[in-house]
Amino acid sequence: MDLRKQCAIIVAYALNELLETKKLQVEKIKTENITLENPPSAEMGDIGIPLFSFAKTLHMAPPMIAKELEKIILENSCDGKYSDYQMPGDFFAVGPYLNIRLNKGLVASGIIEKIENQGVNYGSLNNEEVAPMKGRRVMIEFSSPNTNKPLHLGHLRNDALGESVSRMLRKCGAEVFKVNIINDRGVHICKSMLAYKKFHEEKGDTPESLGIKSDRFVGDCYVEFNNIGRKADGTIIEAEKKAAEEEAQNMLIEWEKGNEEIRCLWKRMNKWAIDGVKKTYERTGISFDKLYYESETYLVGKEIILQGLKDSHFYKEEDGSVWVDLAEINLDKKVLLRKDGTALYMTQDIGTAVSRHNDWNFNNLVYVVGSEQIYHFKVLFYILKKLGYEWANKLFHLSYGMVNLPEGRMKSREGTVVDADDLIDNLRDDVLAEIAEKGRQDAVGDVNEVAEKIALGALHYYLLQVSPTKDMIFNPKESLSFNGNTGPYLQYMGARICSILRKAKEIGLDCTTDKNTLALLSSEEEWALIKLLGELPSVLEKAADSLDPSSVAVYLYEVAKQFSKFYHECPIISAEDKKLATARLTLARCTRTVLQNGMEMILVPFLETM
Ligand code: ARG
Repeated sequence: MDLRKQCAIIVAYALNELLETKKLQVEKIKTENITLENPPSAEMGDIGIPLFSFAKTLHMAPPMIAKELEKIILENSCDGKYSDYQMPGDFFAVGPYLNIRLNKGLVASGIIEKIENQGVNYGSLNNEEVAPMKGRRVMIEFSSPNTNKPLHLGHLRNDALGESVSRMLRKCGAEVFKVNIINDRGVHICKSMLAYKKFHEEKGDTPESLGIKSDRFVGDCYVEFNNIGRKADGTIIEAEKKAAEEEAQNMLIEWEKGNEEIRCLWKRMNKWAIDGVKKTYERTGISFDKLYYESETYLVGKEIILQGLKDSHFYKEEDGSVWVDLAEINLDKKVLLRKDGTALYMTQDIGTAVSRHNDWNFNNLVYVVGSEQIYHFKVLFYILKKLGYEWANKLFHLSYGMVNLPEGRMKSREGTVVDADDLIDNLRDDVLAEIAEKGRQDAVGDVNEVAEKIALGALHYYLLQVSPTKDMIFNPKESLSFNGNTGPYLQYMGARICSILRKAKEIGLDCTTDKNTLALLSSEEEWALIKLLGELPSVLEKAADSLDPSSVAVYLYEVAKQFSKFYHECPIISAEDKKLATARLTLARCTRTVLQNGMEMILVPFLETM
């Protein structure tokens, strides 16, 4: 049984004895009424139980109650009244509190046994009788690219956040459904299509024929569109630019009418874009349960808006465009359908939300989208409420801050955004160079694979260690440092433990869960590490609850540092006492489990060697 619960039972029992001796005819005190707190300092024990709430029932001042309880519990334990279980620790009065100093050996063996038994599942609250989020159905949208460009650095933060939060929610027992909206319709994609028609169609160019990743090719076309009217010396011919913009808008109208030629090119280019993006997802290890496509949901949105117009939720301007008045939420007016009848970004989001709720009846829908869209989601949620969808107040915008590179590093081809594939390639190449420099090519197995995993570990850790709402600078060099607060540092510590475990196996040293042997783990370094390892489940629960993985990163860094201290102070394989060596080896193996399980939550690949 959980030691904390045992403490509560013992205290409730003692309180009831005190009630009896005072011959008070009141209801018995239940275990649930005992509150367990953390004392302000380690010298004051591990648990503090405030007694204020019992003063009235017992007609006694709290410090008196504390003293009495201390006496009763001591007597009872001497009389063997707690023979069902070992005493979890020492109980003593501290002012109006009854504090408990836990028996280290018992705590240690409890934590270690749990980790050893649960293995890859340790940390998961799915194992508990009442998982905190059991039965909750959470749909989570993330990534959501436009199909005119490859993914960029901002998407990498978005993807890491969405995937990480999804994994943590699942660990806490929620049913999670990961979705994406591919914004594959609109004027942006028409721009890429127009450039393709102008500059590539005749030549029959394809990504294959040019040897370019397919989403990048579509992105290149988009850049070409934006350069229309720009002369070599940088001057811009406005008339040419304007004509091109108009052409793109007309193309959208034709697209919505179903013009066959345009639809055909659109299909072809969208496939290039989406196939390319999917390759990047595969590379970074993120996945979805369902992809939604704007081209399929925007019509649902249009219909809903037209119905809303009939029901007077919206109004029509003279030019035929449809609007919503946002005075109720102190905002201006917002257009929902253009005068030419074409749909907008908001149009499709209304359709997408309704389609999603029809498909998968969620309790919550979380949108992982950048903070520049706070206004958009405020309006979207308001409109859905106005239309009477009762689930509209279960929507949440998980907004995250911008991410930039330090000045001067890796300018992308457009000069503004940083291409995701390029960024990972660069990180990987830096790792390869470092491995070569250290002459470790042959020591690490498949060197390319290892370098890729280190690159991803560096990237994901760096992006997730910052609270989502904060803007941040991604510093590639810093992210790769092997001895700082980084992903590679965690990977390095994990690989180091694996190497210890391999060595132990070679010399026939084994792990143990024998309580007496584990009781040998009593040094300060060992005790601190064990207590830390015991916290994984609650750390995950907190992170899932606040939809913020950064505390998991902080925690894992603490674990890695504490392991390093322990390893420094306490020899494992070379320990004189073989029993002690066994116990320490077990502690090392448990640390490995915690690192591995935790790293999976923040998308940092675990490495057995590096
Ligand atoms: N594709 C959009 C963009 O790149 C983001 C979509 C966010 N999700 C949504 N449901 N609106 O700006």
